Amino acid sequence: MIYIGIVVAMIAIGSLDGFLSGTNKPAGDATVAPARLDDAARRGALVYAQRCSDCHGLDLVGSEHGPALLGARFRTLDDAGWTAAMLQGAPARGRHPAMAPVDGLDPADAARIVAYARAMQAANPL
Ligand code: HEC
Repeated sequence: MIYIGIVVAMIAIGSLDGFLSGTNKPAGDATVAPARLDDAARRGALVYAQRCSDCHGLDLVGSEHGPALLGARFRTLDDAGWTAAMLQGAPARGRHPAMAPVDGLDPADAARIVAYARAMQAANPL
């Protein structure tokens, strides 16, 4: 019973968080965590939380500092494009100056972040 209460509270807090942070998030859409993450994606999730979530939101739902990463534009952006944005910054790709190169990011971790992002995109079809 307590366990169910905690889960319900977490879901409520999760949606509230999305509501507060996500102008980019479609209304009423709850982000779903993938059922399974392989080792690379799991590590990617950790690095994502440390290096990306301040701007793109913990569940890739966006914040006032950066867009959600679940939309069509980010699904169709290929892995090389994702990696370039992280390592060279968005302006190098003709995009918004607010995303500088992510300082000191290990290219192997960048690949793991892409694995995590693809898993999140797959678990949250548009
Ligand atoms: C300081 C805030 C900030 C941080 C930190 C940040 N981003 Fe971004 N990101 C942005 C903004 C702002 C954009 C530009 C959106 C646009 O052009 O519409 C962006 C764009 C992107 C794009 C699209 C680039 C393109 O060429 O279209 C990707 C992919 C991305 N970010 C992923 C990440 C990942 C992964 C991380 C962590 C390794 C990260 N970002 C860290 C703010 C940030």
